[in-house]
Amino acid sequence: MRLSSRKNNLTVNKYNSAMAKTKILVVDDDRNLLDLIHMRLEASGYDVFAADHENVAKEIVVQEVFDVAVIDLQLVNQDGLLLMEELHLIQPEMPVIILTAHGSIESAVKAMKRGAFTYLTKPFDSRELILQIERARERRQLTGEINRLKELLGERFNFANIIAKSEPMRHVLDQVARIADTESNVAIYGASGTGKELIAKAIHIASPRKDFPFLAINCAAIPESLLESELFGYKKGAFTGAVKNSKGLFIRADQGTIFLDEIGDMPLSIQAKLLRVLQERTFLPLGSDEPVSVDVRIIIATNKNLKEEVKKGNFREDLFYRIHVIPIELPLLKSRKEDIPPLVEHFIRKYSDLMEKKVKAITPAAMQKLMLHDWPGNVRELENIIEYAIAMTNNDTLTDDLILQTKDGESELLSLKDARARFEKNYLQNLLEITGGNVSKAAELAGKYRADLYNLMKKYDITPQDFKL
Ligand SMILES: Nc1ncnc2c1ncn2[C@@H]1O[C@H](COP(=O)(O)OP(=O)(O)OP(=O)(O)O)[C@@H](O)[C@H]1O
Ligand SMILES: [Mg+2]
Repeated sequence: MRLSSRKNNLTVNKYNSAMAKTKILVVDDDRNLLDLIHMRLEASGYDVFAADHENVAKEIVVQEVFDVAVIDLQLVNQDGLLLMEELHLIQPEMPVIILTAHGSIESAVKAMKRGAFTYLTKPFDSRELILQIERARERRQLTGEINRLKELLGERFNFANIIAKSEPMRHVLDQVARIADTESNVAIYGASGTGKELIAKAIHIASPRKDFPFLAINCAAIPESLLESELFGYKKGAFTGAVKNSKGLFIRADQGTIFLDEIGDMPLSIQAKLLRVLQERTFLPLGSDEPVSVDVRIIIATNKNLKEEVKKGNFREDLFYRIHVIPIELPLLKSRKEDIPPLVEHFIRKYSDLMEKKVKAITPAAMQKLMLHDWPGNVRELENIIEYAIAMTNNDTLTDDLILQTKDGESELLSLKDARARFEKNYLQNLLEITGGNVSKAAELAGKYRADLYNLMKKYDITPQDFKL
Protein backbone atom coordinates (compact mmCIF):
# COMPACT_ATOMS: atom_id res chain seq x y z
CA MET A 1 0.00 0.00 0.00
CA ARG A 2 1.27 3.47 -0.85
CA LEU A 3 1.40 6.42 1.42
CA SER A 4 -1.07 9.12 0.62
CA SER A 5 0.87 11.86 2.38
CA ARG A 6 3.49 13.21 0.06
CA LYS A 7 5.24 15.01 2.85
CA ASN A 8 5.93 11.93 4.91
CA ASN A 9 7.00 10.01 1.90
CA LEU A 10 9.56 12.63 1.13
CA THR A 11 10.99 12.59 4.63
CA VAL A 12 11.48 8.85 4.54
CA ASN A 13 13.04 8.87 1.11
CA LYS A 14 15.39 11.66 1.97
CA TYR A 15 16.82 9.72 4.90
CA ASN A 16 16.86 6.42 3.16
CA SER A 17 18.66 7.54 0.08
CA ALA A 18 21.31 9.36 2.09
CA MET A 19 22.22 6.43 4.30
CA ALA A 20 21.51 2.78 4.95
CA LYS A 21 17.84 1.91 5.28
CA THR A 22 16.23 2.47 8.64
CA LYS A 23 15.89 -0.89 10.39
CA ILE A 24 12.64 -1.56 12.17
CA LEU A 25 11.79 -4.47 14.42
CA VAL A 26 8.08 -5.26 14.59
CA VAL A 27 6.78 -7.69 17.23
CA ASP A 28 3.19 -8.87 17.17
CA ASP A 29 1.75 -12.35 17.58
CA ASP A 30 -1.28 -11.41 15.53
CA ARG A 31 -0.02 -12.64 12.17
CA ASN A 32 -2.46 -10.59 10.12
CA LEU A 33 -1.56 -7.31 11.71
CA LEU A 34 2.13 -8.21 11.63
CA ASP A 35 2.02 -8.92 7.89
CA LEU A 36 0.11 -5.73 7.27
CA ILE A 37 2.58 -3.52 9.14
CA HIS A 38 5.47 -5.36 7.55
CA MET A 39 4.12 -4.73 4.07
CA ARG A 40 3.35 -1.09 4.63
CA LEU A 41 6.66 -0.24 6.22
CA GLU A 42 8.57 -2.06 3.50
CA ALA A 43 6.61 -0.22 0.85
CA SER A 44 7.73 3.01 2.49
CA GLY A 45 11.36 2.11 2.17
CA TYR A 46 12.14 0.61 5.57
CA ASP A 47 14.14 -2.52 6.25
CA VAL A 48 11.71 -4.52 8.39
CA PHE A 49 12.23 -7.55 10.59
CA ALA A 50 8.89 -9.03 11.63
CA ALA A 51 8.79 -11.26 14.71
CA ASP A 52 5.65 -13.18 15.51
CA HIS A 53 6.98 -14.37 18.86
CA GLU A 54 8.88 -12.61 21.66
CA ASN A 55 11.65 -15.22 21.57
CA VAL A 56 12.33 -14.41 17.93
CA ALA A 57 12.64 -10.75 18.90
CA LYS A 58 14.99 -11.53 21.79
CA GLU A 59 17.22 -13.58 19.51
CA ILE A 60 17.42 -11.01 16.76
CA VAL A 61 18.33 -8.03 18.98
CA VAL A 62 21.46 -9.87 20.06
CA GLN A 63 22.52 -10.17 16.42
CA GLU A 64 21.29 -7.00 14.76
CA VAL A 65 20.94 -3.38 15.73
CA PHE A 66 17.57 -1.71 15.09
CA ASP A 67 16.76 1.96 14.76
CA VAL A 68 13.24 1.61 16.11
CA ALA A 69 11.04 -1.20 17.48
CA VAL A 70 7.27 -1.48 17.28
CA ILE A 71 5.82 -3.84 19.90
CA ASP A 72 2.28 -4.91 20.57
CA LEU A 73 1.31 -4.43 24.21
CA GLN A 74 -0.58 -7.69 24.49
CA LEU A 75 1.48 -10.59 23.28
CA VAL A 76 0.04 -13.98 24.07
CA ASN A 77 2.93 -15.30 26.14
CA GLN A 78 4.40 -12.12 27.47
CA ASP A 79 3.47 -8.58 28.33
CA GLY A 80 4.83 -6.28 25.61
CA LEU A 81 6.26 -3.90 28.23
CA LEU A 82 8.26 -6.70 29.80
CA LEU A 83 9.57 -7.59 26.37
CA MET A 84 10.50 -3.95 25.82
CA GLU A 85 12.47 -3.94 29.05
CA GLU A 86 14.26 -7.13 28.11
CA LEU A 87 15.15 -5.74 24.68
CA HIS A 88 16.36 -2.55 26.35
CA LEU A 89 18.81 -4.60 28.37
CA ILE A 90 20.52 -5.38 25.07
CA GLN A 91 19.81 -2.23 23.05
CA PRO A 92 19.06 0.40 25.69
CA GLU A 93 18.75 3.27 23.25
CA MET A 94 16.37 1.68 20.79
CA PRO A 95 13.18 3.78 20.78
CA VAL A 96 10.11 1.58 21.22
CA ILE A 97 6.62 2.37 19.95
CA ILE A 98 3.96 0.40 21.82
CA LEU A 99 0.72 -0.61 20.12
CA THR A 100 -2.18 -0.61 22.55
CA ALA A 101 -5.81 -1.61 22.29
CA HIS A 102 -8.35 1.15 22.00
CA GLY A 103 -9.14 2.82 25.30
CA SER A 104 -6.30 1.43 27.42
CA ILE A 105 -4.90 4.83 28.22
CA GLU A 106 -3.68 3.60 31.58
CA SER A 107 -1.35 1.05 30.05
CA ALA A 108 -0.20 3.63 27.52
CA VAL A 109 0.90 5.89 30.35
CA LYS A 110 2.60 2.96 32.03
CA ALA A 111 4.42 2.21 28.79
CA MET A 112 5.85 5.72 28.66
CA LYS A 113 6.94 5.59 32.26
CA ARG A 114 8.78 2.36 31.66
CA GLY A 115 10.77 3.79 28.79
CA ALA A 116 8.64 3.57 25.65
CA PHE A 117 9.17 6.38 23.15
CA THR A 118 5.47 6.67 22.45
CA TYR A 119 2.32 4.60 21.89
CA LEU A 120 -0.28 4.18 19.18
CA THR A 121 -3.84 3.15 19.78
CA LYS A 122 -5.28 0.48 17.51
CA PRO A 123 -6.64 0.77 14.90
CA PHE A 124 -4.12 3.25 13.58
CA ASP A 125 -3.30 4.71 10.25
CA SER A 126 0.04 3.66 8.72
CA ARG A 127 0.86 7.33 8.17
CA GLU A 128 0.67 7.84 11.89
CA LEU A 129 3.01 4.92 12.50
CA ILE A 130 5.53 6.23 9.99
CA LEU A 131 5.37 9.69 11.46
CA GLN A 132 6.16 8.29 14.91
CA ILE A 133 8.95 6.12 13.54
CA GLU A 134 10.56 9.15 11.93
CA ARG A 135 10.16 11.21 15.09
CA ALA A 136 11.78 8.45 17.15
CA ARG A 137 14.63 8.17 14.71
CA GLU A 138 15.26 11.87 14.54
CA ARG A 139 15.18 12.35 18.24
CA ARG A 140 17.58 9.51 18.71
CA GLN A 141 19.95 11.00 16.19
CA LEU A 142 19.76 14.55 17.40
CA THR A 143 19.77 14.32 21.14
CA GLY A 144 20.92 10.79 21.80
CA GLU A 145 20.02 9.09 24.97
CA ILE A 146 21.47 11.65 27.33
CA ASN A 147 18.35 13.70 27.86
CA ARG A 148 15.97 10.83 28.29
CA LEU A 149 18.23 9.32 30.92
CA LYS A 150 18.58 12.61 32.71
CA GLU A 151 14.82 12.82 32.91
CA LEU A 152 14.59 9.27 34.18
CA LEU A 153 17.27 9.80 36.81
CA GLY A 154 15.80 13.02 38.03
CA GLU A 155 17.51 15.17 40.56
CA ARG A 156 16.78 12.82 43.37
CA PHE A 157 20.25 12.86 44.84
CA ASN A 158 23.01 15.33 44.79
CA PHE A 159 25.70 12.74 44.19
CA ALA A 160 26.48 14.17 40.80
CA ASN A 161 29.40 11.91 40.02
CA ILE A 162 27.73 8.66 41.07
CA ILE A 163 25.64 6.93 38.47
CA ALA A 164 22.78 4.99 40.03
CA LYS A 165 19.89 4.24 37.74
CA SER A 166 19.33 0.63 38.73
CA GLU A 167 17.21 -0.29 41.72
CA PRO A 168 20.07 -1.84 43.75
CA MET A 169 22.28 1.22 43.21
CA ARG A 170 19.47 3.59 44.13
CA HIS A 171 19.07 1.60 47.28
CA VAL A 172 22.78 2.08 47.99
CA LEU A 173 22.47 5.85 47.54
CA ASP A 174 19.38 5.87 49.73
CA GLN A 175 21.42 4.17 52.43
CA VAL A 176 24.26 6.64 51.97
CA ALA A 177 21.88 9.56 52.34
CA ARG A 178 20.33 8.13 55.48
CA ILE A 179 23.51 7.14 57.31
CA ALA A 180 25.76 10.00 56.31
CA ASP A 181 25.10 12.18 59.35
CA THR A 182 25.19 9.39 61.91
CA GLU A 183 28.38 8.52 63.75
CA SER A 184 28.23 4.81 62.98
CA ASN A 185 31.01 2.93 61.31
CA VAL A 186 30.22 1.62 57.87
CA ALA A 187 31.30 -1.59 56.12
CA ILE A 188 31.24 -1.59 52.34
CA TYR A 189 31.28 -4.99 50.65
CA GLY A 190 31.69 -5.55 46.95
CA ALA A 191 33.80 -7.16 44.27
CA SER A 192 36.74 -5.39 42.73
CA GLY A 193 35.80 -2.29 40.74
CA THR A 194 32.21 -1.98 41.98
CA GLY A 195 32.75 1.50 43.43
CA LYS A 196 33.58 0.92 47.10
CA GLU A 197 35.95 3.85 47.42
CA LEU A 198 33.59 6.14 45.54
CA ILE A 199 30.77 5.32 47.98
CA ALA A 200 33.05 5.76 50.99
CA LYS A 201 33.93 9.26 49.77
CA ALA A 202 30.27 10.03 49.13
CA ILE A 203 29.44 9.15 52.74
CA HIS A 204 32.17 11.45 53.99
CA ILE A 205 31.13 14.32 51.74
CA ALA A 206 27.49 14.00 52.78
CA SER A 207 28.41 13.94 56.47
CA PRO A 208 29.05 16.76 58.97
CA ARG A 209 32.72 15.72 58.83
CA LYS A 210 33.03 16.88 55.25
CA ASP A 211 35.30 19.85 56.08
CA PHE A 212 37.78 17.57 57.82
CA PRO A 213 40.09 15.07 56.14
CA PHE A 214 39.07 11.89 54.35
CA LEU A 215 42.12 9.64 54.48
CA ALA A 216 42.33 6.28 52.78
CA ILE A 217 44.76 3.46 53.34
CA ASN A 218 45.00 0.12 51.58
CA CYS A 219 45.71 -2.51 54.22
CA ALA A 220 46.74 -5.10 51.63
CA ALA A 221 49.37 -2.95 49.98
CA ILE A 222 51.44 -2.08 53.03
CA PRO A 223 53.70 -4.49 54.98
CA GLU A 224 52.65 -5.23 58.55
CA SER A 225 55.47 -3.27 60.22
CA LEU A 226 54.76 -0.13 58.19
CA LEU A 227 50.99 -0.38 58.43
CA GLU A 228 51.06 -0.02 62.19
CA SER A 229 53.21 3.13 62.12
CA GLU A 230 51.21 4.54 59.20
CA LEU A 231 47.99 4.18 61.16
CA PHE A 232 49.06 5.09 64.66
CA GLY A 233 52.27 7.06 64.20
CA TYR A 234 55.42 6.71 66.29
CA LYS A 235 57.59 8.51 68.75
CA LYS A 236 61.11 9.56 67.91
CA GLY A 237 63.43 6.63 68.64
CA ALA A 238 60.65 4.02 68.59
CA PHE A 239 62.69 2.01 66.07
CA THR A 240 65.81 2.48 63.96
CA GLY A 241 65.05 5.20 61.48
CA ALA A 242 62.42 6.90 63.64
CA VAL A 243 64.38 10.13 63.81
CA LYS A 244 61.44 12.29 64.73
CA ASN A 245 57.87 11.95 65.95
CA SER A 246 55.40 11.01 63.26
CA LYS A 247 51.68 11.54 63.26
CA GLY A 248 49.76 8.56 62.06
CA LEU A 249 46.65 8.54 59.94
CA PHE A 250 44.37 8.47 62.97
CA ILE A 251 45.72 11.77 64.26
CA ARG A 252 45.79 13.42 60.86
CA ALA A 253 42.19 12.40 60.22
CA ASP A 254 40.92 13.75 63.55
CA GLN A 255 37.27 14.83 63.20
CA GLY A 256 37.24 13.39 59.70
CA THR A 257 36.90 9.92 58.20
CA ILE A 258 39.38 7.08 57.75
CA PHE A 259 38.79 4.64 54.92
CA LEU A 260 40.40 1.27 55.64
CA ASP A 261 40.41 -0.42 52.26
CA GLU A 262 40.84 -4.21 51.97
CA ILE A 263 40.55 -4.64 55.72
CA GLY A 264 40.29 -8.40 55.18
CA ASP A 265 44.07 -8.30 54.71
CA MET A 266 44.82 -6.48 57.94
CA PRO A 267 47.21 -8.52 60.16
CA LEU A 268 45.74 -9.80 63.43
CA SER A 269 48.12 -7.77 65.60
CA ILE A 270 46.89 -4.54 64.04
CA GLN A 271 43.29 -5.68 64.24
CA ALA A 272 43.74 -5.81 68.03
CA LYS A 273 44.98 -2.25 68.13
CA LEU A 274 42.20 -1.06 65.85
CA LEU A 275 39.64 -2.70 68.09
CA ARG A 276 40.96 -0.70 71.04
CA VAL A 277 40.62 2.53 69.06
CA LEU A 278 37.03 1.67 68.26
CA GLN A 279 36.18 0.83 71.85
CA GLU A 280 38.06 3.52 73.72
CA ARG A 281 38.75 6.13 71.05
CA THR A 282 42.35 6.20 72.25
CA PHE A 283 45.59 4.49 71.26
CA LEU A 284 49.31 4.53 71.88
CA PRO A 285 51.62 5.60 69.04
CA LEU A 286 54.59 3.22 68.60
CA GLY A 287 57.17 3.74 71.31
CA SER A 288 54.94 6.04 73.32
CA ASP A 289 53.14 5.50 76.61
CA GLU A 290 50.97 8.56 76.37
CA PRO A 291 47.55 7.64 75.02
CA VAL A 292 46.22 9.83 72.26
CA SER A 293 42.49 10.31 71.86
CA VAL A 294 40.88 10.83 68.50
CA ASP A 295 37.48 11.39 66.97
CA VAL A 296 37.29 9.63 63.61
CA ARG A 297 34.63 7.82 61.72
CA ILE A 298 35.75 4.54 60.24
CA ILE A 299 34.59 3.18 56.92
CA ILE A 300 35.98 -0.15 55.89
CA ALA A 301 35.83 -1.96 52.58
CA THR A 302 36.64 -5.46 51.49
CA ASN A 303 36.01 -7.81 48.59
CA LYS A 304 36.34 -10.76 50.96
CA ASN A 305 33.54 -12.42 52.84
CA LEU A 306 34.48 -11.23 56.32
CA LYS A 307 32.24 -13.74 58.08
CA GLU A 308 34.15 -16.50 56.33
CA GLU A 309 37.43 -14.89 57.35
CA VAL A 310 36.20 -14.87 60.95
CA LYS A 311 35.41 -18.59 60.71
CA LYS A 312 38.84 -19.27 59.26
CA GLY A 313 40.46 -17.38 62.12
CA ASN A 314 41.89 -14.64 59.89
CA PHE A 315 39.66 -11.92 61.26
CA ARG A 316 38.73 -11.11 64.85
CA GLU A 317 35.09 -11.74 65.58
CA ASP A 318 34.82 -8.85 68.07
CA LEU A 319 36.26 -6.47 65.48
CA PHE A 320 33.89 -7.81 62.85
CA TYR A 321 30.87 -6.91 64.99
CA ARG A 322 32.30 -3.47 65.70
CA ILE A 323 32.68 -2.59 62.05
CA HIS A 324 29.74 -4.46 60.59
CA VAL A 325 27.29 -1.97 62.13
CA ILE A 326 26.01 -0.60 58.84
CA PRO A 327 26.72 -2.94 55.95
CA ILE A 328 26.45 -1.70 52.38
CA GLU A 329 26.60 -4.23 49.55
CA LEU A 330 27.67 -3.07 46.12
CA PRO A 331 26.14 -5.24 43.40
CA LEU A 332 28.11 -6.66 40.47
CA LEU A 333 27.77 -4.60 37.31
CA LYS A 334 26.35 -7.58 35.41
CA SER A 335 23.41 -7.65 37.80
CA ARG A 336 22.53 -3.99 37.07
CA LYS A 337 22.93 -3.53 33.37
CA GLU A 338 20.59 -0.50 33.32
CA ASP A 339 23.51 1.39 34.83
CA ILE A 340 25.70 0.71 31.81
CA PRO A 341 24.32 3.35 29.39
CA PRO A 342 24.49 6.23 31.90
CA LEU A 343 27.92 5.07 33.07
CA VAL A 344 29.07 5.06 29.46
CA GLU A 345 27.79 8.63 29.01
CA HIS A 346 29.51 9.64 32.23
CA PHE A 347 32.88 8.18 31.23
CA ILE A 348 32.63 9.54 27.69
CA ARG A 349 32.20 13.02 29.13
CA LYS A 350 34.98 12.50 31.66
CA TYR A 351 37.63 11.24 29.23
CA SER A 352 36.56 13.43 26.37
CA ASP A 353 37.19 16.44 28.62
CA LEU A 354 40.40 15.05 30.06
CA MET A 355 41.87 14.23 26.65
CA GLU A 356 40.40 17.33 25.05
CA LYS A 357 38.55 15.34 22.43
CA LYS A 358 35.12 15.90 20.98
CA VAL A 359 33.66 12.46 21.57
CA LYS A 360 29.97 12.80 22.43
CA ALA A 361 28.28 9.50 21.70
CA ILE A 362 28.58 5.81 21.05
CA THR A 363 27.04 3.79 18.23
CA PRO A 364 24.15 1.44 19.03
CA ALA A 365 26.26 -1.53 17.91
CA ALA A 366 29.02 -0.57 20.36
CA MET A 367 26.45 -0.14 23.14
CA GLN A 368 24.96 -3.53 22.31
CA LYS A 369 28.41 -5.08 22.73
CA LEU A 370 28.78 -3.47 26.14
CA MET A 371 25.33 -4.65 27.21
CA LEU A 372 26.14 -8.24 26.29
CA HIS A 373 29.48 -8.32 28.11
CA ASP A 374 29.84 -10.13 31.45
CA TRP A 375 31.91 -7.47 33.32
CA PRO A 376 34.20 -9.47 35.60
CA GLY A 377 36.03 -6.21 36.38
CA ASN A 378 32.81 -4.27 37.02
CA VAL A 379 32.67 -0.47 36.68
CA ARG A 380 36.43 -0.11 36.67
CA GLU A 381 36.62 -2.40 33.62
CA LEU A 382 33.94 -0.36 31.84
CA GLU A 383 35.77 2.84 32.63
CA ASN A 384 39.03 1.42 31.23
CA ILE A 385 37.31 0.32 28.04
CA ILE A 386 35.81 3.76 27.41
CA GLU A 387 39.07 5.49 28.26
CA TYR A 388 40.88 3.27 25.76
CA ALA A 389 38.28 3.80 23.04
CA ILE A 390 38.41 7.58 23.47
CA ALA A 391 42.18 7.57 23.33
CA MET A 392 42.07 5.56 20.10
CA THR A 393 39.32 7.35 18.20
CA ASN A 394 39.45 10.28 15.79
CA ASN A 395 35.67 10.54 15.54
CA ASP A 396 33.03 12.16 17.66
CA THR A 397 31.27 8.81 18.08
CA LEU A 398 32.74 5.62 19.53
CA THR A 399 32.34 2.69 17.17
CA ASP A 400 32.14 -0.98 18.06
CA ASP A 401 35.54 -1.86 16.60
CA LEU A 402 37.11 0.08 19.48
CA ILE A 403 35.13 -1.75 22.13
CA LEU A 404 36.03 -5.14 23.63
CA GLN A 405 38.08 -6.34 20.72
CA THR A 406 38.06 -10.00 21.69
CA LYS A 407 36.18 -12.76 19.96
CA ASP A 408 32.51 -12.99 20.81
CA GLY A 409 32.80 -10.07 23.19
CA GLU A 410 34.39 -12.41 25.69
CA SER A 411 36.17 -10.93 28.64
CA GLU A 412 39.90 -10.46 28.35
CA LEU A 413 40.23 -10.71 32.11
CA LEU A 414 41.10 -14.38 32.54
CA SER A 415 41.43 -16.23 35.79
CA LEU A 416 45.04 -16.69 36.87
CA LYS A 417 44.79 -20.39 36.01
CA ASP A 418 43.52 -19.72 32.49
CA ALA A 419 46.02 -16.94 31.92
CA ARG A 420 48.84 -19.23 33.01
CA ALA A 421 47.58 -22.02 30.75
CA ARG A 422 47.36 -19.66 27.81
CA PHE A 423 50.88 -18.43 28.48
CA GLU A 424 52.31 -21.94 28.90
CA LYS A 425 50.80 -23.11 25.65
CA ASN A 426 52.07 -20.07 23.74
CA TYR A 427 55.47 -20.38 25.28
CA LEU A 428 55.70 -24.05 24.38
CA GLN A 429 54.66 -23.39 20.80
CA ASN A 430 57.26 -20.65 20.49
CA LEU A 431 59.96 -22.92 21.87
CA LEU A 432 59.14 -25.64 19.39
CA GLU A 433 58.99 -23.19 16.56
CA ILE A 434 62.42 -21.84 17.37
CA THR A 435 63.92 -25.30 17.71
CA GLY A 436 62.08 -26.74 14.73
CA GLY A 437 60.35 -29.31 16.91
CA ASN A 438 63.51 -30.53 18.62
CA VAL A 439 62.37 -31.38 22.15
CA SER A 440 65.87 -31.82 23.60
CA LYS A 441 66.87 -28.36 22.43
CA ALA A 442 63.57 -26.87 23.59
CA ALA A 443 64.09 -28.43 27.04
CA GLU A 444 67.57 -26.98 27.22
CA LEU A 445 66.35 -23.49 26.28
CA ALA A 446 63.53 -23.62 28.81
CA GLY A 447 65.76 -25.04 31.54
CA LYS A 448 63.42 -28.02 31.92
CA TYR A 449 63.71 -31.79 31.71
CA ARG A 450 62.53 -33.38 28.49
CA ALA A 451 59.99 -35.39 30.44
CA ASP A 452 58.46 -32.16 31.77
CA LEU A 453 58.14 -30.80 28.27
CA TYR A 454 56.50 -34.00 27.06
CA ASN A 455 54.00 -33.73 29.88
CA LEU A 456 53.20 -30.15 28.99
CA MET A 457 52.86 -31.00 25.29
CA LYS A 458 50.43 -33.73 26.20
CA LYS A 459 48.47 -31.34 28.42
CA TYR A 460 48.07 -28.82 25.62
CA ASP A 461 47.74 -31.34 22.82
CA ILE A 462 50.86 -30.16 21.00
CA THR A 463 52.81 -32.49 18.68
CA PRO A 464 56.50 -31.65 18.12
CA GLN A 465 56.32 -33.15 14.63
CA ASP A 466 54.11 -30.25 13.58
CA PHE A 467 57.06 -27.92 14.08
CA LYS A 468 59.63 -29.91 12.12
CA LEU A 469 61.16 -27.78 9.40
N1 LIG B 1 28.25 4.26 40.23
C1 LIG B 1 29.34 4.83 39.70
N2 LIG B 1 29.24 6.00 39.03
C2 LIG B 1 30.32 6.57 38.49
N3 LIG B 1 31.55 6.07 38.56
C3 LIG B 1 31.72 4.91 39.22
C4 LIG B 1 30.63 4.23 39.83
N4 LIG B 1 31.10 3.11 40.42
C5 LIG B 1 32.43 3.09 40.21
N5 LIG B 1 32.81 4.16 39.49
C6 LIG B 1 34.20 4.47 39.05
O1 LIG B 1 34.83 3.22 38.78
C7 LIG B 1 36.16 3.20 39.27
C8 LIG B 1 36.30 2.10 40.30
O2 LIG B 1 35.59 2.44 41.48
P1 LIG B 1 36.24 2.28 42.95
O3 LIG B 1 37.70 2.53 42.93
O4 LIG B 1 35.42 3.05 43.90
O5 LIG B 1 35.96 0.73 43.11
P2 LIG B 1 36.46 -0.28 44.23
O6 LIG B 1 35.29 -1.14 44.56
O7 LIG B 1 37.12 0.47 45.33
O8 LIG B 1 37.48 -1.14 43.39
P3 LIG B 1 38.74 -2.01 43.91
O9 LIG B 1 38.19 -3.17 44.65
O10 LIG B 1 39.36 -2.41 42.60
O11 LIG B 1 39.58 -1.10 44.74
C9 LIG B 1 36.42 4.58 39.84
O12 LIG B 1 37.05 5.38 38.87
C10 LIG B 1 35.03 5.10 40.16
O13 LIG B 1 34.99 6.50 40.11
MG1 LIG C 1 39.09 0.32 45.97
